[in-house]
Amino acid sequence: MKRNYPIIGIVGLAFLAAAIVLNPGNTKAEESISLQTVGPVKAAKAEGKVLVTYFTWPEPDGVDASSGASRVVADGKLYGNTEYVARILAEATGGDLFAIETSKKYPSPHRALIDEAKREGEANRRPKLTTHIENLKDYDVIFVGYPNWWADMPMAIYSFFDEYDFSGKTVIPFVTHGGSRFSQSVKTIAELEKNARVIEGPSVSDRSVPECRAMIGNWLQKQGFSNK
Ligand SMILES: Cc1cc2nc3c(=O)[nH]c(=O)nc-3n(C[C@H](O)[C@H](O)[C@H](O)COP(=O)(O)O)c2cc1C
Repeated sequence: MKRNYPIIGIVGLAFLAAAIVLNPGNTKAEESISLQTVGPVKAAKAEGKVLVTYFTWPEPDGVDASSGASRVVADGKLYGNTEYVARILAEATGGDLFAIETSKKYPSPHRALIDEAKREGEANRRPKLTTHIENLKDYDVIFVGYPNWWADMPMAIYSFFDEYDFSGKTVIPFVTHGGSRFSQSVKTIAELEKNARVIEGPSVSDRSVPECRAMIGNWLQKQGFSNK
């Protein structure tokens, strides 16, 4: 599959300008929240067995999600934004969690990460995955979470869709972002997985990640994940 790197939109450009200008030296204290205490999520059960997969690359530059960055501290542990949302989804649906990991280690400094992600996307370079789903046949509903990178999915997610055939399954993309929401990525996934049922999942702004629990619970209920 050839990947067309999209033209980044106004929101994406605004995000990048703000991210590059505002990020260095932000000294705001990390907000400590608890996975248990941020509020209840109504338990939800899907019709089939659920797997919640995610890719995340938390930035260790000393900024937290509440200041528009890429990590959440909960119960003394550091989570990438997307990982945090994935954990809430898994908890709420009773699903299993699966981290999509790459052998490639992306640079830590914010600006270097931004530049490397751009280079990788423009070159359509797909990183090698080091984690693999062993028992895909056991799952009916697969959530796939990622941060919006350059108005698209990170290339690791392209590697992920190269690896698996989700025919006959329900695929629910979810995203964390700095303003661009999914960009065109749900459409891209539907094109990559033509024989899957692709449903747009929750989109969570990086500033709202620590408080997204109730929104996720509502979204699940609206989609027919009912309490059982
Ligand atoms: C390389 C890179 C590119 C990004 N590009 C965008 C973008 O185009 N639009 C946007 O809304 N957010 C963008 N962001 C912000 C992230 O999507 C957002 O902070 C996300 O919550 C990070 O999730 P993570 O902690 O799970 O990695 C970008 C972040 C990085 C590191």
